[in-house]
Amino acid sequence: MTTSQAPAAAPVPDSPLVRAARGLDVPHTPVWFMRQAGRSLPEYRAVREGVGMLESCRRPDLVTEITLQPVRRHGVDAAIFFSDIVVPLAAVGVDLDIVPGVGPVVAQPVRTRADVERIRALDAADVPDITESVRMLVAELGPTPLIGFAGAPFTLASYLVEGGPSKNHEHTKALMHGDPALWHDLCARLAQISGAFLRVQAEAGASVVQLFDSWAGVLSRADYIRFVQQHSATALAAVADLDVPRIHFGVGTGELLTLMGEAGADVVGVDYRVSLTDALDRTGGRWPLQGNLDPALLFAPWEALERRVREIVEEGRAAPGHIFNLGHGVLPATDPDVLTRVVELVHEASAR
Ligand code: CP3
Repeated sequence: MTTSQAPAAAPVPDSPLVRAARGLDVPHTPVWFMRQAGRSLPEYRAVREGVGMLESCRRPDLVTEITLQPVRRHGVDAAIFFSDIVVPLAAVGVDLDIVPGVGPVVAQPVRTRADVERIRALDAADVPDITESVRMLVAELGPTPLIGFAGAPFTLASYLVEGGPSKNHEHTKALMHGDPALWHDLCARLAQISGAFLRVQAEAGASVVQLFDSWAGVLSRADYIRFVQQHSATALAAVADLDVPRIHFGVGTGELLTLMGEAGADVVGVDYRVSLTDALDRTGGRWPLQGNLDPALLFAPWEALERRVREIVEEGRAAPGHIFNLGHGVLPATDPDVLTRVVELVHEASAR
């Protein structure tokens, strides 16, 4: 709330996050954390008590509360919408659940033409609660931008084809190479769903979107180009006319950074295996970067962590824009006070 004493906060389009994503100058490096809402917070565990994960994603009161928790606690520069990459799949009728400690589990893996043909398009009318949650959040957040997100077609396909989390993605790769026509049909459907889910959030007021291709790092460049990139491009293109910056992130994607940028991203997310300096070199400075503190370093002594955070802030100065983040999600056992200290440190170390 703005009082007569306090200066009016800058509007969302002028927020550090949106400005950094556009490669504009910022008062400080903006910072948020993937999985900032979730099990590292006692207040999250309290409100989730006895409510299933998928159900909690469809209740605007819970979504709003959980999304706001890390903003209140850490003073991060953005909220990320509390949901899951499989929520839009459930909304089009895929029978799945999110099993605690495991992840998404699909009742009947998608492997045949008949399986693929059962996956229908997503329409905004399938997820009225998502529109409602985003609207409520944007009103509560004021000047703090909301990041909407979706899973990219490859990562969604991996869960559907494997039937759950997978280390080797063998059924997915077998389908991709064994029946390319069926693979492309599946991914085209998923690209529509993913793009429509992003669009619902952006139209309801999200200021930035992130496409998570979490498992794309298991692919070679050649396979990414042949089987995946065009579908991620379709998902990202679904919001191209909305003037909402698009972040594109995956784990272990050091070899794919330029290809992921070229899929239509405004910001390329970098995991912790590649330094921002190397990422900048590999991408030729064409995109602002997001990243890339190793989430395990949040368990290190403060002096070691502080040194690494300062290094990342310095490396980020050379990029056309830098959004500080982890190289992957917050681990559940992370001490939330350490996250708060990292936010303060990033702001202090980067103050212009
Ligand atoms: O704070 C946030 O980042 C917003 C919420 C968010 C969740 N899932 C909530 C969640 C986001 C952005 C996601 C995306 C997501 N979901 C991804 C992409 C990001 C990534 O980590 O690479 C993926 C691969 C999934 C699939 C998924 N859902 C996994 C692997 C898990 C974890 C399983 C477990 O219990 O360890 C989930 C469940 C999930 N999604 C939880 C949360 C907070 C944990 C469920 C719980 O608290 O009971």
